[in-house]
This record gives sequence, structure tokens and C-alpha cells, in this order.
Amino acid sequence: MTRPLSADSFSFTLSATCGAARTGLVSTPRGAVRTPAFMPVGTAATVKGLYFDQVKAAGADIVLANTYHLMLRPGAERIARLGGLHAFMRWDGPILTDSGGFQVMSLSGLRKMSEQGVTFRSHVDGAYFEMSPERSVEIQGLLGADIQMQLDECVRLPCADEEAERAMRLSLRWAERSRRAFETQPKGRALFGIVQGGAVPTLRVESARALADMDFPGYSIGGLAVGEPQEVMLAMIETVEPHLPAGKPRYLMGVGTPDDLLESVARGIDMFDCVMPTRSGRHAQAFTRFGRLNLKNARHAEDPRPLDETSDCPALRDYSRAYLHHLVRCEEMLGSMLLTWANVHYYQQLMAGARAAIAAGRYGDYVAEVKEGWARGDL
Ligand code: GUN
Repeated sequence: MTRPLSADSFSFTLSATCGAARTGLVSTPRGAVRTPAFMPVGTAATVKGLYFDQVKAAGADIVLANTYHLMLRPGAERIARLGGLHAFMRWDGPILTDSGGFQVMSLSGLRKMSEQGVTFRSHVDGAYFEMSPERSVEIQGLLGADIQMQLDECVRLPCADEEAERAMRLSLRWAERSRRAFETQPKGRALFGIVQGGAVPTLRVESARALADMDFPGYSIGGLAVGEPQEVMLAMIETVEPHLPAGKPRYLMGVGTPDDLLESVARGIDMFDCVMPTRSGRHAQAFTRFGRLNLKNARHAEDPRPLDETSDCPALRDYSRAYLHHLVRCEEMLGSMLLTWANVHYYQQLMAGARAAIAAGRYGDYVAEVKEGWARGDL
């Protein structure tokens, strides 16, 4: 990779493309992120069930944390007093934080949106909170996040075009305000604008163009994987992609399955996050190169094979399916931990393979091979 690491700057360098797929490096003062990148979700300052050493060893360069959860517990000011989120949770690599808008919508009670921001009650204890674009950026600054998100409003799909338009325009105004609020933060951090617009191509294009004019260091695509079929999501990515600056990273928020990742990379996406590998791991699901397995299933009860004997991840290589089945049947903590570890590793491997294939100019073949493995299964 070509770019030297700078101590105080944020940058993105593309090193190869293959069709619309790209591979490159997001450089931050806390380290570089190889793209395409999957960011494990560490909502409450922990990737549930894993030590950060395991997350790093699995190949993750960056993790995600959530403004919404951390502002409720333990509070952004408290984390700042304790030295910031990196020191608090003992992860020294880059951290991306989501702004809270999406989580307020999906988790909190008694929400009220206004031009000023959103007011809501905590899902933890009912306490009353206010969040404006400025306060969201302030919280992300207190946490010390390397990559921050503007506050936005995400609508569930399907929805009326008028509703998608209202939320998209509000998000654009909040993008301006977030950008201004971000100006006082230390050099080397980045704020991304978030493209909204539901499933309406003209709205998506307008949102992408307006954000591009604001010249953010990176662009997120939000409001997808919120109830629409995969083909709609992919069509929206194809619609938006030509309007985002090629030299800036593109982050598809909250996505997705391994197949979503491969297809989105093919359409020019550089960064992803999703609870799927971690949440599924806690629900007995394993993602492997043979496809998805449900370890609760009785067919694994006497299967002495590991999930993948060729893997270099101990969770995939060293534990029998029979043992994993036993652990999940007994609801043992270790079952969740091993399957989370395996899934985080698999997602990182999938992205490492994508990066190598793009660099070698054979991304299409890579996708075909991976999908063939899923279809073949392991029997
Ligand atoms: N996570 C998944 N989708 C979204 C979105 O549309 N906005 C934000 N802020 N976070 C998300």
C-alpha cells in the first residue's frame, strides 16, 4: 500500500479498482483501515463476548460504537473524564461512532422530532434526553471517535415518498449543522455525511449531490436494509454511487449478510458495519465458507468435525460441531463467545479475500467462488 501514515491527518487512498469495486486505505492518526472493511459493532464499548485482542487478531482495523447507548450509560462526559473511549475500552485503533439518530428511532420511547433535533426517553430507565446535531457531534467528540456521523433521520421502508423527502431534507440541514459543530474538533478526525432518500432514486441523487457539495471527508449511505428487498438496496447503491466523489470512502450503514457485503463491494462500497455476525453468534448461527449453520440443529449433535478445519481461527478450527451444539443447547456463555469469534473472523476473512481479489483484478471470480462454496455446503 502506498500511503505513508500521517500523524495528524485523515485521508483515503485507492490502490486498485476492479469494475466498480475498490480497494484502498483509510488513514487516521490511530492507524489505517484496509478497505473494503467490515467494522465489528461494539455498541456499548464492547464487541459482545470478545476481547479486543481477538477482534484485532481476527483482522479488524476499526470498530463501531454507538453515541445513543454511551450517552445513556455511562455518559459521554464520564467517558471523557476517564480518558476517552479508546482508553476506556482498551482499543487503540480507529473507532467510528454512529450519531444516535437511527438508534433513537429504533430503541427509545416517546420520541419527538423537530427542526432543532430529537427528544426521547431512554430505553434503559425512561430518563428524558435531547439530541441535536450539535450535541451528537459534541458527544462523539467527547468519546474521541476518529470517524463521526452527522445526526440524520432514517425512515423505515416502505414509506411514502413525501415522508422520505421530508426526512432527507431534514438530514441535509442537519448535515450542515453537524459540519459546523465539528469544526472545533482536533485535526485528524473525520465527519461523514449520510445519504438518505428512502427508495426514491431522485431523492437519493439529490441527497448525494448536496452532501458532495458540502465536501465531507467521507460519505455514508443510510436508510437501507430497513425492510426492503436486497435488490432495492443494491439498486439504491447503484443510483447513489456515481454522485459520490470517487476519492472519498463510502460507508453502507448497518449492512449486512455476507452476500450483501459481496454485492455492495461490487457496487463501490468501502466500509460496512452490522450486528449480524455478533448477534447471530449469540443465537447459535455460524457463518462459514460452507454457508450458514444453525448449531442448535440436532444434526450437529454427534458431528466431530470443526466448523472449518482449514481456518486459522481457533473457534472455527479447534472445537467440534458436537461441542458447539452442546454449548448452545445448554445456553452456555462459551457457545455464544465461540460462535461470535468465528463469525467476526469469517466476516474479516471475507473482506480480506475481497481486497486481495480486487487488487488482483479478479473480484468477479472471487464472488463466484465464495458463492459456490456457500451453495455446495459441507456435506
Ligand atoms: N445505521 C443503519 N442505518 C442507519 C442510518 O440510516 N442512519 C444512521 N445514523 N445509522 C444507521
